[in-house]
Amino acid sequence: MSIKNIRLEVMQLLEKKVDSFMNDFLIPVEKIWQPSDLLPDSENETFFEDVTELREIAKELPYDFWVVLVGDTITEEALPTYESWLTEVEGVDSEGRNGWSKWVKHWTGEENRHGDVLNKYLYLSGRVNMREIEMTTQHLINDGFDIGTGKDPYKNFVYTSFQELATYISHNRVSQIAKKFGDKKLSKMCKLIAGDEMRHHHAYGEFVNQIFKVDPSEMMLAFQYMMKQKIVMPAHFLRESGQKISSAFEHFSDSAQRIGVYTASDYVEILQKLVGKWEIDKINGLTDEAEKARDYLMKLPARMAKISERLVIPEVENVFKWVQPALVK
Ligand SMILES: [Fe+2]
Ligand SMILES: [Fe+2]
Repeated sequence: MSIKNIRLEVMQLLEKKVDSFMNDFLIPVEKIWQPSDLLPDSENETFFEDVTELREIAKELPYDFWVVLVGDTITEEALPTYESWLTEVEGVDSEGRNGWSKWVKHWTGEENRHGDVLNKYLYLSGRVNMREIEMTTQHLINDGFDIGTGKDPYKNFVYTSFQELATYISHNRVSQIAKKFGDKKLSKMCKLIAGDEMRHHHAYGEFVNQIFKVDPSEMMLAFQYMMKQKIVMPAHFLRESGQKISSAFEHFSDSAQRIGVYTASDYVEILQKLVGKWEIDKINGLTDEAEKARDYLMKLPARMAKISERLVIPEVENVFKWVQPALVK
């Protein structure tokens, strides 16, 4: 049987468990938080006072912080790209009739609240140029992404396991910084988003776990493949209006490194966590090739840690069209 057909069989086997995955890792609509729980209520008489207060507190937050918050928002807002990518994966029915497509839709529903709440907060804050942000979002959706998983569910679930943990880390750090600057409401917002990302990370991590049980060698090779080519961020094509594709990504990521929201050592730590989570040292019954892949993956975190220690982060802030330097400290 071809590799593709085996993957399809594995996906069909796991599909039987999708309902329990949904119960374990997603929260029903009526119970989960919504953006309006966290923002000034426009039906309320005190709305304008609440917005004024939000804007006053926002004045305390520094430039790199705004850049990161904007970049994170845009990354979340490019959700249509991620949903259409997931519906293309082998084993997911793009017409939305099987268990996997139900998973994708419900995951998308939860994720959709992230960009929504952050966008509304940015709009009310008065510290950013919304039109520039909106143009970047539109560009990013137009440009799509190229993350090297193809339609392979194994590679896809390695990517999503990694990426959900990366977004957990970055939203959680933004939450901590906001708190430090006295912005309790923004801090709570980002903390709740981070909580969603963690649940999603557990879900995708569990899918990989299950695949390791039935198709260990191919799962190991897919893990190795993704780590060899490196996990690129979903917003790696980020650009500002009138600029070339990808031109803003590096500057955005410099800002994130400077304020410690997401750093090269976080990348290594995530890899280490995945290696531990999937207990790859204990997986046996592997082909020779997959044994080698396991050895490679076991040694990789230490190797990457050495490289990440040598990285130098530029000290100079890039001026983005999204954030008005005159308005921000
Ligand atoms: Fe998200
Ligand atoms: Fe996510």
